[in-house]
Amino acid sequence: MAEESTTDGFAPLRIKRVVRETADAVSLVLDVPEHCSHRFRYQAGQFLTVRVTVDGRDLRRCYSMSSAPLEDELQITVKRDPGGVVSNWINDTAVAGTELHAAPPDGRFVLREIDSDSADLVAFAGGSGITPIMSLVRTALADSSRRIKLFYANRARDSVIFSDRLARLAEANAGRLVVEYHYDEDGGVVTPAAVDSFTAGVGAAEYYICGPAPFMATVENALQAAGVPKVRLHLERFTVADAAPAVTADDAQATEEVVIELDRRVTTAAYRKGDTLLQTARMSGLRAPSSCETGSCGTCMARVVEGTARMLNNDALDDDEVDEGWVLTCQTLPTSRSVRVVYE
Ligand SMILES: Cc1cc2nc3c(=O)[nH]c(=O)nc-3n(C[C@H](O)[C@H](O)[C@H](O)COP(=O)(O)OP(=O)(O)OC[C@H]3O[C@@H](n4cnc5c(N)ncnc54)[C@H](O)[C@@H]3O)c2cc1C
Ligand code: FES
Repeated sequence: MAEESTTDGFAPLRIKRVVRETADAVSLVLDVPEHCSHRFRYQAGQFLTVRVTVDGRDLRRCYSMSSAPLEDELQITVKRDPGGVVSNWINDTAVAGTELHAAPPDGRFVLREIDSDSADLVAFAGGSGITPIMSLVRTALADSSRRIKLFYANRARDSVIFSDRLARLAEANAGRLVVEYHYDEDGGVVTPAAVDSFTAGVGAAEYYICGPAPFMATVENALQAAGVPKVRLHLERFTVADAAPAVTADDAQATEEVVIELDRRVTTAAYRKGDTLLQTARMSGLRAPSSCETGSCGTCMARVVEGTARMLNNDALDDDEVDEGWVLTCQTLPTSRSVRVVYE
């Protein structure tokens, strides 16, 4: 059968089941057609990009798999964002039997090979941030002998997603999985002291953090203050942390051309002022990789090997990668006369 997918890599996935998790969160079990199942294989912690049309507008959003690769079914879980377009649309309208277009899984919030079997796994989830962490926890339980500690923060008890499932997992893995809940309604948001107390006595560990930006900042800062090396911290940001700096007149003014290496082809593109590297690649007819387009997912990363460029927002690359010249092309403006960028 010919593969039914659009030229930009999106494929229609049928919604097999809709599971109402809480009043403001829904899980969608998606049926991946046999002929594109190889493209939708994923690692625990990854996300897929969903494309929907709401009120005539084509919109893309990333949603992490809450299922684990060891299962046959692929599931995403979407929590309402107050005032948000797509999350509310999905919660209000998703029904079994309809189709959702999605681009294949991607993302770097995955289990690390290094020390993976000896180091504990310590996870901090806030609200919908439980989604990729659920996948990581279940995979680590099944594929390793690691001990796992999960700190799961929510505003209120009735917004906890997967509470029954986590209770069953903790019972079945007594001694290996410990889950601690935090409810803001009891005494306020998570504090550095709560993070310290939760991690007291933890030895060598890999730390995974996903949740609202202020929650992630508190956890990250507390762990760093406690001496956890950056290389052990893995963060997945669902939202852009800071407003992107405005494009100034100086930015991108000097640039005349962008040389792009993609799929072993070299293209020289005339530069249009204000465009990002990703937009420049697209304007030249190149199918450069992208997903969130907010600087959160890392799908569009490439290396600037000649010239200079400036990132407006970066929630995906670490300092070492930036030092090596990696940029998120969806968030990068060229700043020298000529810039050469390589998608590796
Ligand atoms: C890698 C990744 C994985 C993710 N995984 C998940 C997941 O598993 N589950 C999940 O629920 N979410 C996940 N997200 C978040 C998700 O992609 C969406 O960002 C989220 O659902 C909100 O989308 P929306 O269309 O509902 O909101 P949007 O319409 O994009 O709005 C987002 C917020 O901005 C505010 N806003 C919008 N326009 C304006 C404006 N003009 N002025 C001021 N404020 C405004 C809205 O009120 C809302 O609070 C993930 C994100 C990333 C990057
Ligand atoms: S497309 Fe997600 S960081 Fe650029």
